[in-house]
Parts: sequence; C-alpha cells; structure tokens
Amino acid sequence: MDRELINEIREKTDIVEFIGKYISLTKRGKNYFGLCPFHADTNPSLSVSREKQIYKCFVCGEAGNIYNFLMKYENIDFVEAVSQIAASVGIEFKKNTKAVVDKNKDLYEICDLACKFFQNNLLSHDGIEARNYLEKRKLNMDIIKEFQIGLSLNKRDKLTSLLIKKDYNINTLNELGLTSGEIDTYINRIIFPLFDINGKVNGFSGRIYHGESTNKYLNTKETPIFKKGENIFNYKRAKEEVRKCKFVIVMEGFMAVIRAYTIGVKNCIALMGTSLTTEQINLIKKLSTNVYLCFDGDKAGITATLNNGKKFLDMGFDVKVIPLSDNLDPDDYIIKNGSEKFYSLISSAVNFNDYKIKNLKSGVNFNSPEEISGYINSVLKEISLETDAIKREIMLKNLATETNVWYNTLEKKLNELLSEKRVSNTTFVTRDVKTRKKDKYEKTMQEIIYYMLNSSKVINLVISSKVYFPSQVYRTLVREISYFYEKFGYINIADFLSYESDLELKKYLSEIISLDIRDDETKDDSMVILELLKVIEDYNIALEIKRLEKLIMNEVDPIEQAKISNEIMKLKLRS
Ligand code: UTP
Ligand code: MN
Repeated sequence: MDRELINEIREKTDIVEFIGKYISLTKRGKNYFGLCPFHADTNPSLSVSREKQIYKCFVCGEAGNIYNFLMKYENIDFVEAVSQIAASVGIEFKKNTKAVVDKNKDLYEICDLACKFFQNNLLSHDGIEARNYLEKRKLNMDIIKEFQIGLSLNKRDKLTSLLIKKDYNINTLNELGLTSGEIDTYINRIIFPLFDINGKVNGFSGRIYHGESTNKYLNTKETPIFKKGENIFNYKRAKEEVRKCKFVIVMEGFMAVIRAYTIGVKNCIALMGTSLTTEQINLIKKLSTNVYLCFDGDKAGITATLNNGKKFLDMGFDVKVIPLSDNLDPDDYIIKNGSEKFYSLISSAVNFNDYKIKNLKSGVNFNSPEEISGYINSVLKEISLETDAIKREIMLKNLATETNVWYNTLEKKLNELLSEKRVSNTTFVTRDVKTRKKDKYEKTMQEIIYYMLNSSKVINLVISSKVYFPSQVYRTLVREISYFYEKFGYINIADFLSYESDLELKKYLSEIISLDIRDDETKDDSMVILELLKVIEDYNIALEIKRLEKLIMNEVDPIEQAKISNEIMKLKLRS
C-alpha cells in the first residue's frame, strides 16, 4: 500500500470536521468533545484533538485517527476506510485487495455450486420424503425458493465427486466443511444455506428430517469465509425492511426467521444458537439501534433474552422484548396462534427494563416478608438504572401498589441507591481509562512511548540511551516507532496509527495514546525523559542482581563466587 498517499489523504481531512459529521462536537479548551459512539455515553467523553489529529474516549478507551474512527463506526476494514475518505477528498485510491478477493472467490463459487446441487436434489425423485417433511412444516415452494432450501442425498460422496470433477481441490472442499476426507459432510439432511452480510452463500446448516438423532442441525464450522461469531442469518434480506420499519427483530434460530417471513414479518435476523458477540452487535448496529428480542419462550430463551438484552443496552441500543408463552418458539407460536396474534405481540413489545422487572416477580412468594423485601430491593436496583426521572417515578408507584409498601419508604431507599451510583460513576470517569492493573515499570514504559510519539527528540534520546525495555510488546513498539521515524523522517501519532497494523500492538497503542498526560513543555525535556529511562534501567539492574544472587547460591567454587559478587557490587553502584 502507498503509505505516502495514505498520509496525504489523512492530512487533507481535518479530524474535527470529519468526526463532527457523525457526532456533534463542542470546543472546550484546546480540544473538542462529544458523546462517544462506541459505548453508551451520557457525558461527552470523546475528545478530539485538532493539533494531533486523533480522538480518544476517556471512558471506554477507544482511540485513533480518522481511519480508525471510520473503521470502527462503519465496521469496515482499513482499505475500505482509506478508499472512502480518499473519495471524499477527490483522491484516487485503488483498493489493492484483489488477491484476497480472488482467493475467496473460489470458495464462494464452491458454496454456490453446492447450494444449487442441494436445491436440485430436493426437487428430484429422491427428494420426495424431504418435500413432504417441509410441507408438513408449512414451508411452501415459494419460501423454499426464497431461502434456497435444499437436500443432501443419502449417498456418501455425491457432492465430493461432483466438485472434484469440476477440478476443485479436495483440501479446499475440506476447508469449507463440505467434505470430510473424501466423504460428503452432509448426508441425508435438509440443507439451509447460510449467507454472509452481503447475501452470498458462505455456509450451510443441515437438519435431520426423519428419525431421531442427537445432532439436529449440522452447521458449517469456522472457514475462511464463514466466521461463526460474525455470522447473522438473514442480515442482507432484512436490511431493506429494517430501514422501512426502523427496528430489527432478533431471534434464536433461522427456522423462526423463515416462519416470520412467511407471514410478511421480514425484518428478522437470527444468531443461530451462539451467544451474541461484539462483532454481531456492531453489524446489527448498522441495521438499527432499535432491537426487539424474540427468543424462545423456555427457560433458556428467557436467560438468553436477559443476557443479550443487557449487551445491547450496554452498547447504546433501545431494547424491547416480544415475550412468548408456553415454551413456544416463534415458529411454533405462529403456527399455533396465527399471524394476527404475532403481529399484535410485536406492536405490544415490552421495554427491556419492564421485562426484567416482571421476570424478577415470577416465583416470588408474596406471603413471605423476606421474599417481598428481596424482590423490592432487586426492583429498586433496576429502577435506579433508569435515567428518565418520570419513568422512575412511575415504576416506583407501581412497586408501591404492588407490594403495599409506603411510597415514601421506597423513594428514600431509591435515593440512597442513586447517590451511591453517582459517586461510583464519577470515580469511574476520572479514573484511568482501563481498569487493567499496571505496575510502575509498565506505566513508565508507556509514558516514554507516549513522549516518543510526540517528539522526534525523545525518539533520539531513547535510541541513544540503548535502554532495554523488559517487555516484548513495548520493545516492539519502540522499535516500530524508531523505524517509522528513520524511514519517513518525522513522527506523528495520526500517521503512526495508520502505519501500525498489528492488532495486539494496536490495543496497547490506543491505551498509550489515551493516557492522561499533560502536553506541556515537559514533553520533550531531556531531563524528564532521562529520569524515566533511568527507572527502566534500574529495574533491569535489579533483575540482573537477582539473577546473579541466585547464581552465587549455586556456585561452589569460591573464586567464581568472588567474581560474581564483584559483578553484583558493580551493578549496585550503578543504580
Ligand atoms: P432450536 O432447537 O430452537 O431449533 O435451536 P429450531 O430453530 O426450533 O428448529 P426446529 O424447529 O427444531 O427445526 C435454535 C438454533 O440453534 C442452533 C440452530 O441454529 C437453530 O436454528 N442449533 C440447534 C444447532 O446448531 N444445533 C442443534 O443441534 C440445535
Ligand atoms: Mn422450532
């Protein structure tokens, strides 16, 4: 990739104006502040520096340059971010990702072929039993075509030999999970193709359709084009519909999504039996931040609703719940109660907090003062999380009526909780970004690197001091920064951020740039830097002394012992 061009594009785009297009920023002192889009922010904690052309969030620790911002916000990769920004400043930037696309092109082609093969099987003579099964489950031909449902045959190597005949490599087929050895992975199952976010087939789920088996569904495992934690069923198809109705319904399995589709509810997606990942949340955020959870009505479904609801809430979503009764899943519910009932269930979806409170109530024995008091305390805790004061009052009134406890008593308790919360909130904001514990030496190394990123003078000081950084990550960072400086002849954080591609190092890098260090004159004061380097040097010496002391204990030769102890003396004088 063309580094200079990447830097040029970045320089043409002022970060304050750029981020200002996404969130509103207010000037405070030298920097600009706004609500951080990467966590549920209530106090503007995202700071944008025009001088350094970087942003950082003091609460969640997100930090970077314009490319990092766009990548994170739009959930796109680096090349895509550069090319979008390039287009906006009228610079031509050719995406040099042909190799990757071409490599995966084969894989997508194979999935497509397999999908067509499965579809044909279903319509063939051998598919009669499977067609009957689908008919019994009320999936007609239109829906079978729409979701490209197919069938794998009761033979061992049908698909394998077809694809090999087409000159595909057996290793590639194995890699895609379509074959195991030289045998078809899917034998005698109804095949539901899975799609990536662009609507291309990237995997399969095969369901047994007669007889009992423990493996009801057999799903594609991890492949180069199918990442379980990033896949969402029906994402592409739901996109348009979500745009229209402004909310997305999240379900557990694809059968539920397909069923909802048959009755015209087309804004549904499914997680497919996985626990919700951050990647999935970010993808869903691009559809809408209004989610309705419609999980199975059994115990597992309730637990999943509570867990996933919290995750969505924490990421700033508005969360509602469509609760299903009698252990039914959406598919069963619609078959049993009809579409109208389901439509009205959607329109009367309950607020996630109300759902949680209702859930706390179930099973409470209202004749037992202990249980009532336990219930009240847990509800009060939920109410304290509500940010709207009016809603809090309504919830409190309901609680008073329901439990027959005096409103004022409850209010007093709630206020206690609220003031506790305020205290812990403020300490959180002013405290260090990351709660990760760091010792004195790690802090010092981070501080030195912070200064290196801000001044070439510091880089020179660090290089000439030859101080050894006693940690692999920081050593590598120091080396990379020095390399950047030697190669390009300058240093600035914004460009270094787009230069560094190692994900692990990037994590540390954003931790370092969100350090709350004052950028005053001390930033490249040699005395200050040498002082910091000495801390590291002393640490190294202490380690070396420890090593020699161990050595001396195991040494029997008195002459050798004397030599080592002399070494130790010398070291002690140095520190
Ligand atoms: P369910 O057991 O609720 O399946 O699992 P379902 O959607 O109701 O399907 P039917 O009605 O029995 O045909 C929900 C999801 O969990 C995953 C599948 O993705 C399924 O859609 N799952 C379930 C598996 O991957 N393997 C299994 O053995 C079971
Ligand atoms: Mn089901």
